[in-house]
Amino acid sequence: MTVTDEAELLGLQRIGRIVANTVIVMSRAMEPGMTTAELDAVGRRYMAAEGANPAPEMAYNFPGATCISVNEEIAHGIPGPRVIRPGDLVNIDVSAEMDGFFADTGASFPVPPVRPEVERLCRDGRRAMQAGINQVHAGQRLASIGQAVGEFARKHGYTLVRNLASHGVGRSLHEEPGEIATWPDKSERRVMGEGLVFTVEPFLSLGAEWAEDGNDPWTLYSNPRALTVQYEHTVVVTKRGCVIVTKPDLPTAA
Ligand code: CO
Ligand code: CO
Repeated sequence: MTVTDEAELLGLQRIGRIVANTVIVMSRAMEPGMTTAELDAVGRRYMAAEGANPAPEMAYNFPGATCISVNEEIAHGIPGPRVIRPGDLVNIDVSAEMDGFFADTGASFPVPPVRPEVERLCRDGRRAMQAGINQVHAGQRLASIGQAVGEFARKHGYTLVRNLASHGVGRSLHEEPGEIATWPDKSERRVMGEGLVFTVEPFLSLGAEWAEDGNDPWTLYSNPRALTVQYEHTVVVTKRGCVIVTKPDLPTAA
């Protein structure tokens, strides 16, 4: 969507705060021995209490309130009987709707004990997302996001998953302007208009270049298999930069 007035911005910020808080509540509840279904239930309860509707279910009949992807799974993991173990890398992706507005956010969390290269990957995943967000302002080319993220990845020795794009969001989970690459894309010629709403969600990896299907209709796996992180915000383009709407107001640590 393109935000045209204050009421629309406020509607987005309300659902943005809820999805961001949901990720924090889930990350704080996460512990070894818990199943991903149990972790999903924590997110579902929080969203229900806030009056928000899980978007993956609503938009796609996804079998869960949130997407939880562990280790070799990198996106759209189905909450289920998988037990979270010490040393796992868990991605929690939360999108939801309230009053007709949608927001989408996600983050990867390492379960202790955390190896130094995983700690570095998580820190740099956030920096890669920020490098993309820093490019956002009205009149700027959309391609500059992928350029900046690509430069960051190359400089620090990472790969990027190149078939999982960012996307328009706001009045539905995936909408105009369609897919936005978070890797260098020479064919991208569009420009960011003021008020445009989209996600910035690069997938930074220790070697993966693609996401591939597995045995269920949802879960995507790293190819080649390598640890991969995703950090995602929903942003609104402004003249001076952007407004991040997926801002939590809960502390990140208990
Ligand atoms: Co997401
Ligand atoms: Co998204």
